Amino acid sequence: PVIRRADYQAPDWLVPEIALDFALDPALTVVKARLTVTRNGAHGRPLRLDGDGLDPVSIAVDGEMLADAWRMDGPVLVIDLPGDAHVVETEVRLSPETNSQLMGLYASGGLLCTQCEAEGFRRITFFPDRPDVLSRYHVRMAADKTRFPVLLANGDPVAQGDGPDGTHWAEWHDPFPKPCYLFALVAGDLAANRDHFVTRSGRPVDLAIWVREADLPKTAHAMQALKTSMAWDERVYGREYDLAIFNIVAVADFNFGAMENKGLNIFNSRYILADPDTATDADFDAIAGVVAHEYFHNWSGNRVTCRDWFQLSLKEGFTVFRDQGFSADQGSPAVKRIEDVKMLRAAQFPEDAGPLAHPIRPESYIEISNFYTATIYNKGAEIVRMLHTMLGAARFRQGSDLYFDRHDGEAATCEDFVAAMEDATGEDLAQFRLWYGQAGTPRIRADLEYDAPGGRARLLLSQLVPPTPGQDAKQPMPIPLRLALLGEPSGKEVVAEQLVVLKDAQAELLFEGVAERPVLSINRGFSAPVVIESNRNATDLAFLSANDPDPFARFEAMQQLMLDTLVAGVATGQVDHAPVVEAIAKTLADPALDQAFIAECVLLPSEAFVGDQLLVVDPDAIALVREGLRREIGTQLEKAWRGAYAGTAANHYAYTPPAKGARRLRTIALGYLAVSGAEDADDMAWRQYIDADNMTDRQGALGVLANGHAPAREKTLADFYKRYQADALVLDKWFTAQALSTRPDTVAAVRALAAHPDFTLANPNRIRSLVNAFAVNQRAFNDVGGDGYRFLGEMIVAVDQINPQTAARLVPPLGRWRRFEPVRAAMMRSELERIVAVPDLSRDVYEQVSKSLV
Ligand code: ARG
Ligand code: ZN
Repeated sequence: PVIRRADYQAPDWLVPEIALDFALDPALTVVKARLTVTRNGAHGRPLRLDGDGLDPVSIAVDGEMLADAWRMDGPVLVIDLPGDAHVVETEVRLSPETNSQLMGLYASGGLLCTQCEAEGFRRITFFPDRPDVLSRYHVRMAADKTRFPVLLANGDPVAQGDGPDGTHWAEWHDPFPKPCYLFALVAGDLAANRDHFVTRSGRPVDLAIWVREADLPKTAHAMQALKTSMAWDERVYGREYDLAIFNIVAVADFNFGAMENKGLNIFNSRYILADPDTATDADFDAIAGVVAHEYFHNWSGNRVTCRDWFQLSLKEGFTVFRDQGFSADQGSPAVKRIEDVKMLRAAQFPEDAGPLAHPIRPESYIEISNFYTATIYNKGAEIVRMLHTMLGAARFRQGSDLYFDRHDGEAATCEDFVAAMEDATGEDLAQFRLWYGQAGTPRIRADLEYDAPGGRARLLLSQLVPPTPGQDAKQPMPIPLRLALLGEPSGKEVVAEQLVVLKDAQAELLFEGVAERPVLSINRGFSAPVVIESNRNATDLAFLSANDPDPFARFEAMQQLMLDTLVAGVATGQVDHAPVVEAIAKTLADPALDQAFIAECVLLPSEAFVGDQLLVVDPDAIALVREGLRREIGTQLEKAWRGAYAGTAANHYAYTPPAKGARRLRTIALGYLAVSGAEDADDMAWRQYIDADNMTDRQGALGVLANGHAPAREKTLADFYKRYQADALVLDKWFTAQALSTRPDTVAAVRALAAHPDFTLANPNRIRSLVNAFAVNQRAFNDVGGDGYRFLGEMIVAVDQINPQTAARLVPPLGRWRRFEPVRAAMMRSELERIVAVPDLSRDVYEQVSKSLV
């Protein structure tokens, strides 16, 4: 059934209080629920309680066992209630250890934990499982004391004690009414890294990160990130924590990154555990970002939650924007912005350009889990960022203050957010609202003309929002463009930076007194999530890449130069290397630039991103041209790469922005030396691998060698396996390095790895490390034999039997079939047809596959 935004109705019944009683056991858990329900408005409709795989053992209303005043409507429990307020009690039985979907109550590595967002609570007990029903939770848990010495739930602990037969129990109470998707409990043999935080109004908070005892030493970084986030949210958004306890638990089997359950965040262990030997700089950064993200949800998500799941971006887009701001403040804002834009382009632009395109506030869905997308999260963050850019930081803060004040304790909508921004600032955001409803990445055309004798420049701007499924015609949206004109050759701003908001389909800007030939610097800081097409040639782009004072625009000019070169190369078979090689040489030699920034600038755009620029994707042609350019850059600048490599040598490991930048540039230089064919490249890589005192250098060298040949490749992979076999998160990297290899035998190698004893479909991280990684490997996945598509299809069907949510996330790479040359397009399509014909597909996979075939 299709769920539509337009069909929203307020809940018929509210549940102000719920008391839950869990007799926990992995094989058989008994859940008793006591709901205080009240009729919402004057109507005669029955109480409908969602369930999923639940069988009621008993049902009572106001203490009386019900014999017949209830019925099942499919999975939904329907009870006719005479009055306006009742107490409804139910009892159900669960089997957490056989719950392989990892939604609801499940077992992971000997502990019991929950995941309820979006609709997992209905797998635990009968309840109106929708985010606009807010309740106060009282939770009692009992479990075997030896196997489950720690019992945690949301809110504050209120009582605990020993029970019969070696059991013990605990009671928790959460004073803040919350929707059921924020419910959580954990039971297990866990140890805590404990710390404290005092909020700025003086509230003391006990912090704890719960992990297996052996992992305690790996929690220091996450704890530091948590404390830094708490202070940051006070300083930047005026938001304080509101309970006496904040708990985080790390679990090994988790469908996504982490979950913001009130007072009890549950994390995929990969976003908590880190030390220099096992986690890369990117891992450390991601941990801080995710810890901050989940913490920030306490306000943007929990105190103010979503009215319905169509509003998901209200909490996710805003919270991603908040975590991006946090991370930017921890290191280099320019590099963070580049990383975020690269992520948007790699994950969201293709979504916007494909069959699954949807606005950040969708109109309909079959399975809400499929809408935890880069569009909702990352494009959602860009839309909040545009508000921030247009209003300015201070007025944006007035808007967010009003939003939090006005809707505290409520379930709100995207409209409420925009209205608060409007009311607090007086800005008219009527047209801006289009960003919430229109899918597709706007394409902006920007042509600059210069009349030298008159000293006049004219900028012609136009926008086009391309059609997407179900949206043929679009209206122009407000596009905030930070732009300036740079004089060439001086490099000075002949027209100072200004914020131009393009509101119409076309606009013309005139600049007077332009004494020097101007070059257009536009969409600085990536002020709008759009594609810019301009009449800037290679010389202009090279000039900007060496002179633009805006670091993002400078990076972008280099990217555009590389992209234009590659696209022309694919079209003509001829590649003009010189401008790119020269621009890279200049960047490498520029003493004013830091190494982290240089590292971002000297990398070629990915094969996938090059493909995204083309009408018809031929992966072989792209790989050939890109590898050719890479080789030229490696060979012609060999000396410079050696210099850069030498310049990044460190005495010992530190997790600081400069040291991270050095490590990043180091492996990039190594990669270029390897493709240059330098004879000592394998030795250098092996030395880097074996001498490394940190995982960043080690994994970097492993990645370079995984593209190469025996014996260096085999020796390194074998060593890595031997060293880290027992550490699942590191072993994931071993799988990924091989899945991402550029070698021609990668499909066969990946098939063999899927049969490796360490591979399992039960653990989502392991699936992602091999299968999702493989699916982004443009060359191997698109191997012209078609076996890459076949392998992914087989995996989707196999994983769907176990874990539909994780299976559905494997579908989009096949869904891009329309963009490929006919032979591959046909193979991809037939793979989708094969999948859709499989009986008993989950709703999750069915939605993604059927929409991809249209
Ligand atoms: N709210 C969580 C977060 O972004 C993610 C929940 C994902 N749920 C899902 N069904 N995919 O922090
Ligand atoms: Zn989130």
